[in-house]
Amino acid sequence: MTATLTKPVAGPRTLEDLLLEKRKFAPSKKFKDSAHANSEVIYKEGANFVKFWKKRAHELTWSKKWKKTLEWKAPFAQWFVGGKLNVSVNCVDRHLTTWRKNKAAIIWEGEPGETRTFTYQQLSREVNRFANGLKSLGAVRGDRVVLYMPMVPELAIAMLACARIGAAHSVVFGGFSAEALRDRINDCQAKILVTADGGYRKGHVIPLKQWADEALQEAPGVKKVIVYKRLSQSNPAAWTEGRDIDWNDLVREQSDFCKAENMDSEDLLYILYTSGTTGKPKGIMHTTGGYLTGAYATTKYVFDIKDEDIHWCTADIGWVTGHSYVVYGPLANGATTLMYEGSPDWPAKDRFWAIIAKYKVTILYTAPTAIRTFMKWGDDLPAKHDMSSLRLLGSVGEPINPEAWMWYRKTIGKERCPIVDTWWQTETGAIMISPLPGVTATKPGSATRPLPGIQAEVVDENGKTVKVGAGYLIIKNPWPAMLRGIYGDQERYKAQYWSRFPGYYFTGDGAKRDKDGYLWLLGRVDDVLKVSGHRLSTMEIESALVDNSKVAEAAVIGKHDDIKENAVFAFVTLKEDVSAAGGNRQAVIDELKAHVVKKIGSIARPDEILFTAELPKTRSGKIMRRLLRDVAEGRALGDTTTLADPNVVKSLKEKYEHLES
Ligand code: PRX
Repeated sequence: MTATLTKPVAGPRTLEDLLLEKRKFAPSKKFKDSAHANSEVIYKEGANFVKFWKKRAHELTWSKKWKKTLEWKAPFAQWFVGGKLNVSVNCVDRHLTTWRKNKAAIIWEGEPGETRTFTYQQLSREVNRFANGLKSLGAVRGDRVVLYMPMVPELAIAMLACARIGAAHSVVFGGFSAEALRDRINDCQAKILVTADGGYRKGHVIPLKQWADEALQEAPGVKKVIVYKRLSQSNPAAWTEGRDIDWNDLVREQSDFCKAENMDSEDLLYILYTSGTTGKPKGIMHTTGGYLTGAYATTKYVFDIKDEDIHWCTADIGWVTGHSYVVYGPLANGATTLMYEGSPDWPAKDRFWAIIAKYKVTILYTAPTAIRTFMKWGDDLPAKHDMSSLRLLGSVGEPINPEAWMWYRKTIGKERCPIVDTWWQTETGAIMISPLPGVTATKPGSATRPLPGIQAEVVDENGKTVKVGAGYLIIKNPWPAMLRGIYGDQERYKAQYWSRFPGYYFTGDGAKRDKDGYLWLLGRVDDVLKVSGHRLSTMEIESALVDNSKVAEAAVIGKHDDIKENAVFAFVTLKEDVSAAGGNRQAVIDELKAHVVKKIGSIARPDEILFTAELPKTRSGKIMRRLLRDVAEGRALGDTTTLADPNVVKSLKEKYEHLES
């Protein structure tokens, strides 16, 4: 946590360059005239944050109004205390009494090209039937249910069904390995797992059921597995009689009415695991009333969502972005959300643009990694498609460099669509820093200002406000969608987020504030990596490496990458007997990469592995990752005076330069 702000932002520009950025784009009159928020008044309103959020929460449907808007016993917040509501009622039932009942709630496209659409009425039927199905298997309010699914509508249906019966869901991204799934199931003590026989990605089958079966060998708490059959009959999954139930068999006889549980505002809605600075992922807890208020209000104001919109957030539901902006935010607003199962380059590199043209997408929300990749693929691909339906573009997950921002604006948005660069985290539940598209003038590469009702600031080492300049990003006041802690480990919650700057929530990010008060996010200042927008911990990958019997020690860093932001670079010391035996180095590299994939998933596969007899350490034995980054990124070595043996890192640098040349 005491790292210094040395990392440059993604892309070729440096921090200094960023502050020289002069370009500024005000909202067009046309956009402003029809926007939900179109004047500074909303920022002024946000100054009284409790009142601001109270007003937004009133737009949801509550079965019982709350007594107190905020109960803050730092660092534990309770929002809308005593209020009762159900998330599935807010995302589905309340639209059924309006004209929206026959409106498309979810439009889905599978990677092989199938389309399915669910109106709110149809969604209601599926959610209710699946909720009854869960109950028939013994699920009750207060349980945890793990969802390990491809991007199919049934994933959203399962989430809403859990919410309906008061069971917390924990979605595990389908790219995580069997072992990662096992650890998450065991940590949250789930009794039911919902999965699929598989999904499609880049034309390949992702064998989710096979991985789930492996995970379940060491997850004895799971008694029932519901399997949604996504694949064709030619790909039958192994079946455990008595434990496995076909989704369709489960729902076939169920009634399409399931009474929604009357949940307390502070009841757990979901747990989502994310990587922190230790080897063990954290189960981030989000509760009912506050989270929904955050997801609902930010979708309304940041995406300026309207009934006519087709909202496409390209994130997988396995990440928080998918929770808030594929499922809960759009549906709570009665909007139409688009879900796409597969990869942007399958069967061709213009798949996204084809989808936009086909469904007349109006709002596109994606990650800088994707934007930089599209940029590399060239302007001809988007030019082949009519994307005139687009009216708003969003970016999330990593800092966006000004070049990519400008390309997005010109080539995709045709200089007509405002761009919202949205900063937030799994922990924050909803967007925290972003332009309001009808109010805030944007600057390429800046997430601009904290949203109304959010007090984000940049502080120095001592927690003192930095008016202009670089420092650490903190949040001063509680907000409704904030995490309520780490499942089963509230001490870690306090230590992780509230100890570095007492009284403030520490984000783990560096940021710079310019003279207009605009914020420029600089990336993580701790041991968390962003690899193609996916959040990984260096420690987690190190633990996976040392778990291999050949490895004595490992240190992992994020090497700057123009497309992915971070590439995973591992420095590995092999055990002496392995080293002495010599042998085929490439074979060992391949084995270690495969080992990390087995332990975590392919998203964590190291891009580079460099063997070294020793790692650079301080006299007290701490690995100097900063110097390892210097080696990997080809920079002159920084201060080496605290090292036990400065020669270790010098020879490592020479070795890597020799390999590179
Ligand atoms: O470093 C920040 C980066 O992503 C981290 C949070 O990752 P995760 O919990 O996976 O959530 C990602 C999607 C909400 C942050 O600590 N980050 C997220 N959005 C931005 C960003 N960095 C810069 N600019 C952003 N817009």
